[in-house]
Amino acid sequence: MTPITPTWALFASAHDSSLLSAVTQHHAGQRTHYQVNNFVSVVGQPVKGIDASSALVRIESTAPVILDHKPADAAQIIVFRGVTQHLHYTGKEDKEKLTVESRVPVAAAPNTTAVIIPIRKSAAWWALTQDQRQAFFHKTKTSAGHTNIGMPFAGKIFRKLYHSRYTGTPLPYDFVTYFEFPTELTADFQDLLKQLRDPKTNPEWESVEMEFEIWMTKVSED
Ligand code: HEM
Repeated sequence: MTPITPTWALFASAHDSSLLSAVTQHHAGQRTHYQVNNFVSVVGQPVKGIDASSALVRIESTAPVILDHKPADAAQIIVFRGVTQHLHYTGKEDKEKLTVESRVPVAAAPNTTAVIIPIRKSAAWWALTQDQRQAFFHKTKTSAGHTNIGMPFAGKIFRKLYHSRYTGTPLPYDFVTYFEFPTELTADFQDLLKQLRDPKTNPEWESVEMEFEIWMTKVSED
C-alpha cells in the first residue's frame, strides 16, 4: 500500500515584499504568492502585524520548511506552520462523497480569493476521547454538525487543512485552515463561516478559543 505523504506548509508574511521574496525564493518547495486585503480578528488573541499592506508566501514541501533568513530579519517576518494528516473523524461514506464533490485549487488571478484561518481549540476539547470528538462532526437530533454544514460548500470552496500540533514546535494554534474561491463566492463563504460558528448548528465551535482570518488575493504560483 502506498503511504500517504504529508505536505508541510509554511506561510510567511511581511510588509517588505523584497525581503519576503529573498527569504523564500531559494526553497525547493512549491511557492504561492498572495497580497493581503483584510485581517479579521474573530476570537481570542490574534497575531499582530498583518494588514492590507502585507505580502504573504506559502511554501509547500514534502519535508518541514525552514526559512533562510538573517536573525536580524526575523522580527519582520510572521510565520505560520502546519502539516497535512490522514482523516481523523470522517467515515467512508462522507470521505467518498467529499472526494467526488470537493473543489480543486483555483488558479491564481485578480478575482481569486484565498483565506487563511488559524484556529486553536481548548484544553477541554483535547481532553475528550476520540469517539467524543468525532461525534461533534456528525448530525445529531439538534445540530447539523461540521461535516453536514460543510458538504454543500465543498464544490464551491477549495479547502486544505494543515495540523499544527505535529510540527515539532509548540505553536499558539492547532490548525491552519486554508481556502480558495472565486471572489464572487464571498457571500457563500461568509454563510459557511456563520453556520460553522453558530453553537446551535455546530456545537464543536464552542471549543474554539482563538481564531482570526487573513483575506488575500492569490497572485501567482511559481
Ligand atoms: C468548505 C466546506 C467544508 C467542509 C466540507 C469541511 C469538512 C471537514 C471535515 C470532513 C473535517 C474532518 C476531517 C477529519 O476527518 O480529520 C474537517 C475538519 C476541520 N475543519 Fe472543516 N470543512 C469545511 C469548512 C471549514 C471552514 C470554513 C473551517 C474554518 C473556519 C473549517 C475548519 C476545520 C478544522 C479546524 C478542522 C479540524 C478539526 C479538528 O480536527 O478538531 N472547515 N472539516
